[in-house]
Amino acid sequence: MHTELETAVLLDQAPQTKLFDKQPMQDKPVYTRSVKEVIKDKLDAMSVQKWELDQENAFFVGDLGEVYRQHLRWKALLPRIEPFFAVKSNPDPMVVKLLASLGIGFDCASKSEIQQVLNVGVEPSRIIYANPCKQASFIRFAAQHNVARMTFDNAEELYKIKKLYPDAELLLRILTDDSKSLCQLGLKFGAPLDLTEDLLQTAKDLNLNVVGVSFHVGSGCYDENAFADAVVRARRVFDQAEKVGLPAFSILDVGGGFPSNNVKEGITFEKVAAVLGPAVDALFPPEVRVIAEPGRYYVASAFTVCTHVIGRRTVVAENETQYMYYVNDGMYGSFNCILFDHQEVYPQVLTRGGKLALDNEEKNNVKVEDDKGPTFTSSIWGPTCDSIDCLAKEAKLPVLDDGDWIYWENMGAYTICAASKFNGFKQSEVIYTNTFE
Ligand SMILES: Cc1ncc(COP(=O)(O)O)c(C=O)c1O
Repeated sequence: MHTELETAVLLDQAPQTKLFDKQPMQDKPVYTRSVKEVIKDKLDAMSVQKWELDQENAFFVGDLGEVYRQHLRWKALLPRIEPFFAVKSNPDPMVVKLLASLGIGFDCASKSEIQQVLNVGVEPSRIIYANPCKQASFIRFAAQHNVARMTFDNAEELYKIKKLYPDAELLLRILTDDSKSLCQLGLKFGAPLDLTEDLLQTAKDLNLNVVGVSFHVGSGCYDENAFADAVVRARRVFDQAEKVGLPAFSILDVGGGFPSNNVKEGITFEKVAAVLGPAVDALFPPEVRVIAEPGRYYVASAFTVCTHVIGRRTVVAENETQYMYYVNDGMYGSFNCILFDHQEVYPQVLTRGGKLALDNEEKNNVKVEDDKGPTFTSSIWGPTCDSIDCLAKEAKLPVLDDGDWIYWENMGAYTICAASKFNGFKQSEVIYTNTFE
């Protein structure tokens, strides 16, 4: 939360967006300026309040307009496939409210994710409880709230569901080839195809209601053909169900792993859509409902984090002057994505010598680097006492001072949600803007 004074400063300069007019639960201001303008305003608001505690804490700017643009892109390129946003990637309350107001579905992995989504008025039919191994009390909770659609990948889970929620609508999560993904979810979940027929038979014997198949090609997938291959596997399991004598399956869930807007090379969303859309149409008739569980796709490019340089060390190595910078969010905070999600993060200079480095970029339309003078090999470290807490080992940066700022774009997925408070550091707050015009 920013303080009342900061809000007032920002509000004076920036009218709030209309995006949430129909949302009764809006609890935070949403500005309508560019991300960089919001950052500048925030820094200005700090400098007029030097006495204020914690004023130089790291902060995010979340661009709800970017989330909305991603939604429009999805609709344009994968019109048949209904997105169910994977809440785990970023359960930010404003993002969830925006996506709820757009009418999309939600992939929840736990009771509290389900609760969060229900709390903003989403009907239970717009939720899939996509966790193949669920805590018993969470299944009871799902049953009490009519969240019927859920995944499984093993017989033990079927017996549990039979006891706790016999009317649940089940999707069999199958194993796919996730060798071309950074996070190989198949190590943990997904039934191999040589076991799926037996599982379907068990479900039939238990008189359970299996309605379809789900898969996940792995998070950070870098080969679009993995999606088409998984669709072929899913088709085989649909056919197995028919063989076993289950009622015809009605849902295919193609999971997550879709690249976000910041991915411009290698696998892009356009490439995935060009492979996945036709593969689904070729193998599944129109009466089969097709859903997906995109997470990072919606949020990665929508959040920028600004970190404050809280310390600098000068090091001379092999006759070269190098710098070590210490910033106030790190690997134990929002940058846990480096460790857990294999993300690469890129530092950019926000202020240098106390002056906004962005000014030149915006006024003269030249890259900031051109105007920065010499650069030095620099490493950037988080604020904790642990040496694993390194965000960039060899960045080329101009000399920054203690008190300058560094910003990092594309920090919206698997960042804040998995941040700890290790060493007593706070999670970074979020300021919202809407750049959709
Ligand atoms: C079951 C499931 N669905 C969807 C997702 C979202 O994946 P991504 O953010 O790569 O789209 C995940 C991520 O771990 C997941 O486990």
